[in-house]
Amino acid sequence: DMAVVSRNGSLLVRKFREQKERKKAQHKDWELAGTNLGNILGVKKKDDREDPSMGESTDFKSSQRFAQHMGKKSDASSDFARSKSLKQQRQYLPIYAVKEELLNIIRENNIVIVVGETGSGKTTQLAQYLHEDGYSKYGMIGCTQPRRVAAMSVAKRVSEEMNVTLGEEVGYAIRFEDVTSDKTILKYMTDGILLRESLRESDLDGYSCVIMDEAHERSLNTDVLFGLLREVAARRRDLKLIVTSATMDADKFSRFFGNVPMYTIPGRTFPVDVLFSKSVVEDYVEAAVKQALQIHVQARKGDILVFMPGQEDIEVTCETLTERVEELDDVAPLAVLPIYSQLPSDLQAKIFQKAPDGVRKCVVATNIAETSLTVDGIAFVVDPGYCKLKVFNSRIGMDALSVFPVSQANANQRSGRAGRTEAGVAYRLYTLNQYKNEMLISTIPEIQRTNLANVVLLLKSLGVQDLLKFHFMDPPPQDNILNSMYQLWNLGALDNTGALTTCGRTMVEFPLDPPLSKMMIVACDMGCCDEILTIVSMLSVPAIFYRPTGREEESDAKREKFSVPESDHMTLLNVYQQWKANGYSATWCNEHFIHAKAMRKVREVRSQLKEIAEQQKMPLKSAGNDWDAIRKCICAAYFHHAAMLKGIGEYVNLRNGMPCHLHPTSALFGMGFTPDYVVYHELVMTSREYMQSVTAVEGEWLAELGPMFYSVKESAKTRKEKRQATKVKLSQMEEELALADEQIKRRKLEQ
Ligand code: CDP
Ligand code: MG
Repeated sequence: DMAVVSRNGSLLVRKFREQKERKKAQHKDWELAGTNLGNILGVKKKDDREDPSMGESTDFKSSQRFAQHMGKKSDASSDFARSKSLKQQRQYLPIYAVKEELLNIIRENNIVIVVGETGSGKTTQLAQYLHEDGYSKYGMIGCTQPRRVAAMSVAKRVSEEMNVTLGEEVGYAIRFEDVTSDKTILKYMTDGILLRESLRESDLDGYSCVIMDEAHERSLNTDVLFGLLREVAARRRDLKLIVTSATMDADKFSRFFGNVPMYTIPGRTFPVDVLFSKSVVEDYVEAAVKQALQIHVQARKGDILVFMPGQEDIEVTCETLTERVEELDDVAPLAVLPIYSQLPSDLQAKIFQKAPDGVRKCVVATNIAETSLTVDGIAFVVDPGYCKLKVFNSRIGMDALSVFPVSQANANQRSGRAGRTEAGVAYRLYTLNQYKNEMLISTIPEIQRTNLANVVLLLKSLGVQDLLKFHFMDPPPQDNILNSMYQLWNLGALDNTGALTTCGRTMVEFPLDPPLSKMMIVACDMGCCDEILTIVSMLSVPAIFYRPTGREEESDAKREKFSVPESDHMTLLNVYQQWKANGYSATWCNEHFIHAKAMRKVREVRSQLKEIAEQQKMPLKSAGNDWDAIRKCICAAYFHHAAMLKGIGEYVNLRNGMPCHLHPTSALFGMGFTPDYVVYHELVMTSREYMQSVTAVEGEWLAELGPMFYSVKESAKTRKEKRQATKVKLSQMEEELALADEQIKRRKLEQ
């Protein structure tokens, strides 16, 4: 077998060369920041914190950050969790040493800011301490998380530590999933959940304490909660509010709440050598795979953490890495484990499990592993320096998810992950120059960069009339607020005076983005609620189809069988209906390369949305065979995301002329049927601008449903009339906006 021989041959050569050049390579590829290279190759680091040569290092600032060698010697490395009981593990956490002091401060103050390095025990311990101190007698202890994964995994961990069943005394709630009961006293939840709870009960009376965790993340919902809870705390003198942060921005939090006390948990970190790439990296996935491989082959014991911007990159990285390790002979096994928010939770749990003896673990993660999740035993970090961010693009008038360089603060958090249980090394796949000159000092808070339609809707329904007066820690740009208001006005959620309409009030009831809520409402008018419920539920769940390596063609063929040529939305509907016809069978899912778990989730989400629709007295009719009604309904929600055919598979956005493309996985792709007009769910920017979830629509529908944007070329007279009507509407809105504008200017002058 020639091919195999030659492959092995070339690998051997490569390995030999690699071995020979091992030491040289380290010095060639990496620029040293801070300390010596000794421990890259597994040489135990001598304690050189006081080494005067440190001062001459190329990047003194960042290395000093990690040079706080405050803790005891590391006897705690990877075997730690295996050998110590949960109780012992809890007592080993930095927060344990200051428990009484911390509780005293909380007893004496209603609002306290708690700062502590990631992994010091804030998330898992604080709530338990408050419970032990008796606060749970007066109400639940709530703890908010910006990320769903963190809320779930932390609740699970705490239930184990307290030796109770998850969902009883300790529970969690995320969108569409409530694992709590009457017994629940410690409730972990996403910040979005608490925000929605404040709609029902503005004083949050069910809680004796609220911990706003991971405040440094500055998620959109956290930022809104800041403003709301500041007022709740002023009204409720019995509420304890604790805001935790992994160091950054803590002063700002304290000032925001009226100079409240700030408590810092003494850290216990180990030195981390930070190495920058010498040249600019072209392909960060390839570079990261190479670096992880090099560490695995050459370095001492210790697990690896690789950061990647998103799911796709993570999958490629994991696959390539696994392949390459298998290709090498005489190499210890490497357990490659992905983690990202959409990963099924049983697979997520794997990253916390200890690898068997002799097996090194390599976790490949999004920035979820930056501060939200702590994996013990990490000694090496590989950081390409990118993350995915949702950013409102005022040019195209909508949010788009794109890859951006991380900020310096993120980069430092990432590096710090290598020094939690022992001394470590962080490999930065960018140059020192890039770090210094191309990265922001800290990330721009979400509230200042995304579409605020949901927040506006929520605040309006909470009775906040003038959003520009709401107390934001960092107010969003005025343009963003006005743009979001404009979008809501287009959807019919706000009237010309900016007040909530009946439609808007119903929209708030659904835990969905405004266009999807709108789709639900229109559906009940058009008599296709049954189908739209399914479509909306399918859109609320991550990837339904999977495409295993080696079986791509087979899975693509099965997938194509579901395709409804004019619509991805209807394709999703088709999948669900066939699954239902097959008795909701998991086997059927497996046969069709469909995630059974995701489908079960869809069914759950669907029944929850159905419940809300019933509460709202919406008739749950089916469209029967009138599939046009369904497409029209989709059009009514997404007319602001419309595109017009330009070439094969090539469209341009109808409002701004921006090019956008059908994704190869779209049902409309390569079907020989290319509709003149389409609407889409969202735009994803990767190698080019792709429309995700596309449905063909009629041009007249766009004019009918989105008259503020489009008109049909009809006879000159009707065209003129329509334009006139649109003009009147638009000028009303503009007046409204100008008025708001003036108010802001006046307020600024007054200040
Ligand atoms: O919130 P903070 O970053 O300060 O720490 P934490 O999340 O409370 O984590 C403290 C410790 O709990 C970690 O170092 C892990 O050892 C452990 N932990 C775990 O094993 N599994 C989890 N899902 C969460 C935490
Ligand atoms: Mg935490």
